[in-house]
Amino acid sequence: MRVGIIGIGTVGQALARGFLRAGVEDLAGTTAHPASAERARRALGIPVSTDNRALVCDRDILILAVKPSAVAGVVGEIAPRVTPHQTLVTLAAATPTARVEGLLGSGVPVIRAMPNTPCAVGAGMTVLCPGRSAGPDQLSAVQALFATVGRVALVEDEDLMSVVTALSGSGPAYTFIILEALSEGGVKMGLPRALATELAAQALLGGAALALESGQHPALLKADVTTPAGVTIDGLLALEEGGVRVSLIKAVMAATERSAQLASLLDRDAFRPT
Ligand SMILES: NC(=O)c1ccc[n+]([C@@H]2O[C@H](COP(=O)([O-])OP(=O)(O)OC[C@H]3O[C@@H](n4cnc5c(N)ncnc54)[C@H](OP(=O)(O)O)[C@@H]3O)[C@@H](O)[C@H]2O)c1
Repeated sequence: MRVGIIGIGTVGQALARGFLRAGVEDLAGTTAHPASAERARRALGIPVSTDNRALVCDRDILILAVKPSAVAGVVGEIAPRVTPHQTLVTLAAATPTARVEGLLGSGVPVIRAMPNTPCAVGAGMTVLCPGRSAGPDQLSAVQALFATVGRVALVEDEDLMSVVTALSGSGPAYTFIILEALSEGGVKMGLPRALATELAAQALLGGAALALESGQHPALLKADVTTPAGVTIDGLLALEEGGVRVSLIKAVMAATERSAQLASLLDRDAFRPT
């Protein structure tokens, strides 16, 4: 499968690293500027140019990884070269599939995807939402591609992509704050920083793996760790006093609202193509 990443920046490079680790070899990309193309070429060891039109000619799957404000300009540029035999996967937050389909012209299958940066290490989460021209074959090809870099889920209702963006796309940022804070707790109580960070990271990774593999409700898994009158319950009490639960719920709510707000700004053409 020949994969092209248009806009090989933060998330484009995270995906490229993950694909390369997983053995997806026929990979190429573009950036806007020659200097960033050169940096990406050196960092990844794959062809990276600034020529979107040349890139799209020989690719089966095109991953559009530019900022939402650049989508109209880039899709307008490549539209004359893209054929219905290719599939365009758009990662742009707050950008409905119908908008990309409209810019591309009829017949080209479009699938909206929301991956996250842990795709770089094979621990990503990608949520896919197929557009109106994407059939089962295109969807399963894209599903298989993203499954090489982590888990894949599907949503039919595109309105849910705002909360998907807020929870899954932005999610790693929340975990880094939690990780940093847990590590600081260890440092405060005397652990060397590197060890504190390792312990905190593995606790998050292990807790998440246990929740996913067991399928158990997090509250039950928490109860397993919480001995009556033991150590954990005092830590949990401090977390509840600090409002960690409400803070995290509000983080997802605020980011979802921002995502929906950006979508309506785009609808009103508040963003200009760059
Ligand atoms: N960051 C995340 O965790 C994340 C997660 C899921 C989805 N997304 C979505 O992914 C998209 C990219 O986000 P990002 O954080 O990766 O942005 P980014 O780091 O700014 O990367 C954007 C890339 O697009 C390139 N670009 C801009 N205009 C271009 C053009 N006309 N032709 C070719 N390439 C062009 C830039 O090149 P230069 O460097 O040369 O300017 C850069 O390489 C956004 O739409 C975002 O909503 C991001």
